[in-house]
Amino acid sequence: MALRQIKHYKKDSILRKHSKPVEKIDDRIHILLDDMAETMYHADGIGLAAPQVGVLKRIIVIDIGDGLIELINPTIIFEEGEQFEAEGCLSVPGLAGRVKRPSHVIVEGLDRHGEEVEIEGFGLLARALCHEIDHLDGILFIDKASINYEEE
Ligand code: CO
Repeated sequence: MALRQIKHYKKDSILRKHSKPVEKIDDRIHILLDDMAETMYHADGIGLAAPQVGVLKRIIVIDIGDGLIELINPTIIFEEGEQFEAEGCLSVPGLAGRVKRPSHVIVEGLDRHGEEVEIEGFGLLARALCHEIDHLDGILFIDKASINYEEE
C-alpha cells in the first residue's frame, strides 16, 4: 500500500471533472482501493473519492468509525429527510460549511469482488455518502455550503 497525494481544490482542476464507471475490477483497482483507504486514514478523513487522488474512476471509501466501506460505481437509489450540518473535505483544507443533505440514503454499488452491495446510511454516514458521490461528478461541498468559515 502507498499514500497518494490528495488533490487541492485551488490547484487541481481534475476535482471538477466527471469520473467514469469502473468496467473491470482488477488488481489495479484493488491497489487503488487500498491506497485510498490508507491515504484517508493517514489524513484523518472519514471519506475519500478517487478523483481526490487524481483518478477519474467512480470509486469511494468511507469510514465514519464503524469500519471501512469501499464502493465502486455507487448510485443513490433512495433518499429522504433533511439535515443541515457542517462538512469539510480533505481537498478543501481549512474550510468548513453547513450543507443541506438527505438524512437517510440507500446507495447501491459494487464491492471489491464485483458483488452488488447496498449501503444504508443515516445522519453522518448519509452525509458522507452524498459528499463522496458528489466528488464523482466534480461537485465540491463548497458549491452547496451556505456558510463558509475558517476551521483553523
Ligand atoms: Co471531499
